[in-house]
Amino acid sequence: MEKAIKKADVLIEALPYIKSYSGKIFVIKCGGSALINPEIKKKVLEDIVFMSYVGIRPIIIHGGGPFINEEFRRLGKKVEFTEGLRVTTKDDVAVVNRVLNQVNESIVSEIKKIGGRAVSMNTAKKNVIKARPHEESERLGFVGVIDTVNADVIRNAVRPRAIPVISPVSMGKDNELYNINADDVSAEIAMALKAVKLVLLTDVKGIMRHKGDESTLISTLAMKDARTLIDRKVIQSGMIPKVKACMNALSAGVSKTHIIDGRISHSLLLEIFTDKGIGTEIVRDK
Ligand SMILES: Nc1ncnc2c1ncn2[C@@H]1O[C@H](COP(=O)(O)OP(=O)(O)OP(=O)(O)O)[C@@H](O)[C@H]1O
Ligand SMILES: [Mg+2]
Repeated sequence: MEKAIKKADVLIEALPYIKSYSGKIFVIKCGGSALINPEIKKKVLEDIVFMSYVGIRPIIIHGGGPFINEEFRRLGKKVEFTEGLRVTTKDDVAVVNRVLNQVNESIVSEIKKIGGRAVSMNTAKKNVIKARPHEESERLGFVGVIDTVNADVIRNAVRPRAIPVISPVSMGKDNELYNINADDVSAEIAMALKAVKLVLLTDVKGIMRHKGDESTLISTLAMKDARTLIDRKVIQSGMIPKVKACMNALSAGVSKTHIIDGRISHSLLLEIFTDKGIGTEIVRDK
């Protein structure tokens, strides 16, 4: 009985959050690192389906780094990153697209298994993002940035309570495929859909002052300090596009941005429905 009452208490504690977030769009980026372990993946997607049933409108953008690396190794391809962005040849981008389409389909079918509704929005189904070449495309190859977002198609999907699942490969105006960093995509989609929250799920606790040392986790980081940490190379590699994505989203009016650990059970629910706040929150400068 005690236990049951506690459970009800927890639900009631979430009520103010559920009330204020009902009908609001949340953009959630699932890093490949949060998808590689099937148990973790299932838990993350259960949280997202839960959110959709209590009236939040989640949109998922997924990465797929570890899956792509594995396939590159299998094919004898070189894995190379510059400041968190994957150097992608024309031949590579077809592989990236193929792997990400598989990741996309697997997320959609897992959501359906859990009892949620999902709509696949990958390059093969609905190409909801248009790319243009990255300004350093000479060095990076077929890496793109977002040119336009088809917000209407995404909005029409979230209205009947479906969860769009968006892959970060996109066709450009030149009919070439471009690999876009999924953190960038999530920020642009959050802006285009006027999301209230952008949450980036990854494989570390958040931003750390000393990479690898969890006791140096930074709970709240102002944008100007984030820039300093990038300049001082405290924030490196895959964390750079994340921090930039949060800063862009905040500048464009997204209210809250978080980088959290997808490996922690129910990290999303804890972040959204309690005061506790886990991971790193990036905030506008005062
Ligand atoms: N200061 C820092 N604090 C925490 N992590 C950092 C820091 N600097 C660099 N990192 C790295 O950033 C990585 C997260 O980015 P990464 O691109 O590898 O994963 P992801 O974006 O979640 O997945 P994917 O790229 O597949 O979408 C961490 O595993 C960590 O090694
Ligand atoms: Mg990454």
